[in-house]
Amino acid sequence: MSDFDALLRSLDGGEAQPGPEPVRQEPVAWTAASARRHDRETVRAARRRARERSRIAGPDSAVASRAGDPAYAGPIISLDDVTRFFPGPPPVNALRGIDLTVERGDYLAIVGPSGSGKSTMLNTLGLLDRPSTGTFLFEGIDVAALSDDDRAALRGNAIGFVFQSFHLLPTRSVLENVMLAGAYAGLTREEREPLARAALDRVGLAHRVDFSPATLSGGERQRVAIARAVSTTPRLLLADEPTGNLDRKNSESVMRLFEELGQEGLTIVMITHDDAVAEAAGRRARIHDGELSELA
Ligand SMILES: Nc1ncnc2c1ncn2[C@@H]1O[C@H](COP(=O)(O)OP(=O)(O)OP(=O)(O)O)[C@@H](O)[C@H]1O
Ligand SMILES: [Mg+2]
Repeated sequence: MSDFDALLRSLDGGEAQPGPEPVRQEPVAWTAASARRHDRETVRAARRRARERSRIAGPDSAVASRAGDPAYAGPIISLDDVTRFFPGPPPVNALRGIDLTVERGDYLAIVGPSGSGKSTMLNTLGLLDRPSTGTFLFEGIDVAALSDDDRAALRGNAIGFVFQSFHLLPTRSVLENVMLAGAYAGLTREEREPLARAALDRVGLAHRVDFSPATLSGGERQRVAIARAVSTTPRLLLADEPTGNLDRKNSESVMRLFEELGQEGLTIVMITHDDAVAEAAGRRARIHDGELSELA
């Protein structure tokens, strides 16, 4: 077993057992729990795909269909009357009747106060959580109809995540951290490494590949996390408070990077507390008490 496989194994927490339903925790821990869940499920799905590939010679349409449809011409995201209800106690209507269409190339910032439903919204868009009611189409696919594994596979192929707390493995190099995304997308080591190097180059960190994340500034860490998120050319980049742990200077460098990625045509949905950060996006929406309204 290679080091990298061992790393994945340790992330996976042993044999693939579905994790317990996440319980409500304080916000940063909650984000970390989502990130860990993302790791666990995508690694499991990638392994399953690897097994399927080795079993089936030649092109496998079943495997391909789970990758979503990068050529789909309609909206990448379409939410129709989506709700998310947590039974509690106390019961919470975290999302109420959300209608949202995100076209390819949109850069949407969602602002809102603490507890308004921002992370719930992002977890839903990122296929980490399911709507209680309503319809969510991702590239035209009704995600409610997908199995957990298929959802995780779609996520690993199509969606990149950036979290407030960076979520980097402290004992691994910058390069290995970025290569993890390739593992999630089911790529071989030979495929992963050049993509990871190119992504680090893209975010201006080619000179940091062998560094430990612990030795980097907050802004550099977040750029590593962005490199990880974009290295497999996702069709959607989701970010939950990506500048929340950064000082102003680092925050500005990370914001510039998001702007550039948006200009290059990447579809971005970013959650932020910060109106100034949201100003940079082409589209803005506000969420308040679970209700979303588009801002002019
Ligand atoms: N797993 C859960 N179980 C129960 N309630 C939850 C759960 N997740 C979120 N909630 C509740 O849903 C509401 C919205 O939470 P959410 O985390 O989406 O807010 P937020 O806008 O991201 O807040 P913050 O800015 O503090 O991160 C809150 O009232 C929260 O307590
Ligand atoms: Mg939140």
